[in-house]
This record gives sequence, C-alpha cells and structure tokens, in this order.
Amino acid sequence: MSQPTDELTYTGYLALPELLKLQRPRSAPEHPDELLFIVVHQASELWFKVILHELDTLLGRMESDDALGALAASKRVNTLVRIVTHQLSSLETLPPQRFAEFRGYLGTSSGSQSDQFRAIEAKSGLRDAHFMQAISEHGEPPALVREALGRPTLQETFERMVERAGTSLEAIYTDPEQSALFMLGESLIEYEQGFAMWRFLHVQLVERVIGPMTGGTGGTLGAKYLSRTVSQRFFPSLWAVRGKFYGGAATK
Ligand code: HEM
Repeated sequence: MSQPTDELTYTGYLALPELLKLQRPRSAPEHPDELLFIVVHQASELWFKVILHELDTLLGRMESDDALGALAASKRVNTLVRIVTHQLSSLETLPPQRFAEFRGYLGTSSGSQSDQFRAIEAKSGLRDAHFMQAISEHGEPPALVREALGRPTLQETFERMVERAGTSLEAIYTDPEQSALFMLGESLIEYEQGFAMWRFLHVQLVERVIGPMTGGTGGTLGAKYLSRTVSQRFFPSLWAVRGKFYGGAATK
C-alpha cells in the first residue's frame, strides 16, 4: 500500500485545472448550447474508458472461472451503460434550429470516429462485415480496436467457461448446480439490451435534433444508417438458446 500524501488536494488529485480547460467551444460568438454538447460527449468518452476497463475485469474473471466475481463485474458494466444512456436525454433539450446554429463548427467530426466506442463493440463481440467496414473506414483501425479484435469475444469467453464447467449453454438454464453461470448469462443478455437501448435512444435523439433524412457529419446516411445497428447482437448463441425451450410453443 502506498503512503498517503498530505499535500494532495481534491483539485490536484482530480487534475481539475487541466480537466476543466478541456471544453473548448468552437462557435464564434460562443453558442450557449455548445458547452452542453461538448460535455455530454466528453463525459460519455470518460464512461467508455471505464466500461472498457471493467470489460477487461469481466473477461479476466470469466477466464479464471470466477462466476460470481464475473457476475459482480458485469453488474457494474450494466450500471455504467445505463448511466451513459441516460446522459443522452440532456441533449433532447437541444432543439433543431439551435443545433443548426453551431453544427457547422464541428467540421467533419462525428461519433463514428470514436475509437473507444468501436473498441467496446469489438471487445463485446462484433465481427460482422458491416462492423469491419465501419472500423476500417478511417484507415488502419486504432491500436485499442486492434487489441480488442485480437482477443476472444465476451460470448466466446463465456462459452469456454461453460464448457470447462462440463455443461452446456442450454443446461445452465435448468441445472440448479449451475445457477451462477445462469445468472451470469442473464447479466450478459442485460448488457446487450442496455447497449441496444443506447443505440435506440441515440437514433431517436439524432432524428429529433437533425431529422430522419439528414446525412451525418461522418458522411453516412445519418439516422437511417444508425437504425440498422440497433439489431446488432453481441451474443447470438445466448439469444438462440432461449428458443430451445419453446419447441412446440409457437402453436399454443
Ligand atoms: C445532438 C446530438 C447528436 C447528434 C445529432 C448525433 C448524430 C450522429 C450521427 C448523424 C451519426 C452517424 C454517423 C455520422 O456522423 O455520419 C452518429 C454516430 C455516432 N454518435 Fe452521435 N449524435 C449525437 C450525440 C451523440 C452523443 C452524446 C454521443 C456520445 C458519445 C454520440 C456518439 C456517437 C457514436 C459512438 C456514433 C457511431 C455509432 C455507430 O456507428 O453505431 N452521439 N451520431
């Protein structure tokens, strides 16, 4: 354990002078709504940083067969995803005519250039053609994303853990001895739902602020492109296994 440092203050520990200088509105004269726009994006990136960190903890605990520890880590990740989703609502107070007054100052900057968002998607499990195209759109994928792509996904890591426990995805739903793995699987489904909720509320926000047909600053079709991402899945096998309990239920 390190020794406490007497001289350290709240301001110094949190590097507040540096942190609070990092919000630099571009509009001139400064638009009164630009500060909120910047802070919501910066705060989201800070939370993305913590989410990536906690996903590593989750993966590490799954790799060492610590089901309860992994459950605790996944619950934290789920809370963070909810926090980052809630932040979007503050931008619902930005009406279209006001965003139009400073959108031009953003240049070509777009959320689709967020390396951390792409790293979260890669770590979680996206590997489909649409995703691979999105990450190579801006040239060579950044190191953070390449590192995530080189590791087993959350789903693969969970499946291997289930295999090592000598059971199967289907069996963990009914075997009382596997209730920790069952709870962990359900928590991963909750993560997927939480992430899809971010995507859904983000598209709603985009449509509300710039309209459904306006192209994105990243050169995409805007809301149209984004709404296709809502149905992307990190855990196809965890979704598929649910249907196995309804062999004949569709006719009931
Ligand atoms: C007024 C609010 C917002 C508007 C109008 C907006 C608009 C857009 C648009 C049009 C896109 C499609 C890509 C492109 O630019 O062509 C996009 C993507 C994205 N935005 Fe936003 N956005 C807003 C708020 C946010 C916030 C607060 C975040 C938080 C970090 C964010 C993160 C992202 C990310 C990560 C993507 C890529 C999503 C993907 O490819 O699946 N956006 N945004």
